[in-house]
Amino acid sequence: VSRHDQQAAPRIVRTVAELKAAGRELLETATAAGREASLGLVPTMGALHEGHARLIAQARDENAVVVVTDFVNRFQFDDPADFERYPRDLEADAAIAGGAGADLIFAPEESEVYPDGRPRVLLSAGTLGEKFEGASRPGHFDGMLTVVAKLLHYGMPDPATPAATMYRAYFGQKDAQQLAIVRRLVHDLGYPVQIRPVPIVRSAKGLALSSRNRFLTEEQQDAALVLSRSLFLMKERAEAHLPLRPVEAVAMIDSAPGVELDYFEVVDPGTLEPLAFNCAQTPFTGEALVLVAARVGGIRLIDNMPLGAI
Ligand code: PAF
Repeated sequence: VSRHDQQAAPRIVRTVAELKAAGRELLETATAAGREASLGLVPTMGALHEGHARLIAQARDENAVVVVTDFVNRFQFDDPADFERYPRDLEADAAIAGGAGADLIFAPEESEVYPDGRPRVLLSAGTLGEKFEGASRPGHFDGMLTVVAKLLHYGMPDPATPAATMYRAYFGQKDAQQLAIVRRLVHDLGYPVQIRPVPIVRSAKGLALSSRNRFLTEEQQDAALVLSRSLFLMKERAEAHLPLRPVEAVAMIDSAPGVELDYFEVVDPGTLEPLAFNCAQTPFTGEALVLVAARVGGIRLIDNMPLGAI
């Protein structure tokens, strides 16, 4: 994503007050220049890569003002050691965010977001947060949801800015469960923001891009391709309105050497519950989400495929 290489380096702000003031100023400048009043928020934990650049570039295409948040949220890590060793490099992040078109980076200290330490009240992702990725990471989705709720508040355009300011927030489809939970937050609690999903970026061979892929040898990366192949098989069947027969996709993965399947599930995209119809036998119509997680060479990989109109 290099379309916005000429963009000036994004301004970095550290406090919510600075974020609000800078957001207001940028919106005023944009609307004075005749642009639609719109602000796109891209929440990240830093360590930006090509996948994030896509989110930022889409936000750039759709909004007058683009804000990237860069904050490593302690309360979504189930292992404190993972939190401590999470990469932090604001300068590198600013270069990538600026290259993809961000205007502003909000990189707060922990005390700005959590002035009292661990919040006494955390949002609950409910049953959506207990299954799939949540089953192996207890509390992860509650911590994620709590910080996303705060970040959505911080980024929300000030009511004093032009009346019809459009507010959009960008999340990658790669983390399908996170996206589903954030959509429920907005829907169930009535947040005035439009959630914009950004499609998964894949390698030429089809592997979903992930910072974890660098821990795989070339041979393991090739073995991991069975995951996207199994998902594309479901997509082909859905598009042809055939029964999905997920058991065949599971057999494909099970027969791949070095790939240890954790789950392969076809679910309702809104509830993450099993589909109301038997997708093994009924010709596919409507919407579904296929989720897969597996270990390849000891590295846990996730991938997914939305089916139908979603
Ligand atoms: O996807 C992430 O990077 C994080 O979960 C998010 C949404 C920025 C919340 O910390």
